Amino acid sequence: MDNSPEIIVTQTQVKKRIDELGEQISKDYKDCQLVLIAVLKGAFIFAADLARAINLNLEIDFIRVASYGDATTTSGTIRLTKAPEIDLKGKDIIIVEDIIDTGTTITWLEQYFAEQKASSLKICTLVDKTERRTEEVNIDYVGFSLNEGFIIGYGMDYNERFRNLPDICTL
Ligand code: IMP
Ligand code: MG
Repeated sequence: MDNSPEIIVTQTQVKKRIDELGEQISKDYKDCQLVLIAVLKGAFIFAADLARAINLNLEIDFIRVASYGDATTTSGTIRLTKAPEIDLKGKDIIIVEDIIDTGTTITWLEQYFAEQKASSLKICTLVDKTERRTEEVNIDYVGFSLNEGFIIGYGMDYNERFRNLPDICTL
């Protein structure tokens, strides 16, 4: 991958879509105990912008998982490297992901959060890549459905680089 990044979704389009998602979530979670759980590291920028687009008294926490595999694919083995710290019992959780690709990671996360005795669990992803999906996943909030190869920028990396690009790009 020695070619340079090409913009596929501009930061203006990203902002507009996140404002729409925030408005929808604000309606859906009125009178709920909403907790956004951002999946590190890729979702940190998305979660920061999404949180500010939601007009509710919410909580934010983080989870981090590691998967064994090369730089561009997720292998089947996932382990927890950082657990959320706030009490999730009775809370209404939205998992905030950067990308759902094969669905391996989000399936693992759903099982993890199912054990936390939360009141409800939904999934929000910035990018839904269905081409390589191997697990059946029900995604509640999708920013963009993209099938344009490997995606970087706006928090998403290739070998830890490019997370700071303001637009969603492809390599
Ligand atoms: P999955 O387990 O195959 O669904 O992959 C999920 C994770 O792999 C995402 O949360 C990303 O962190 C990473 N990932 C998958 N596809 C891409 C991509 O195109 N660019 C950057 N990261 C990706
Ligand atoms: Mg991720």
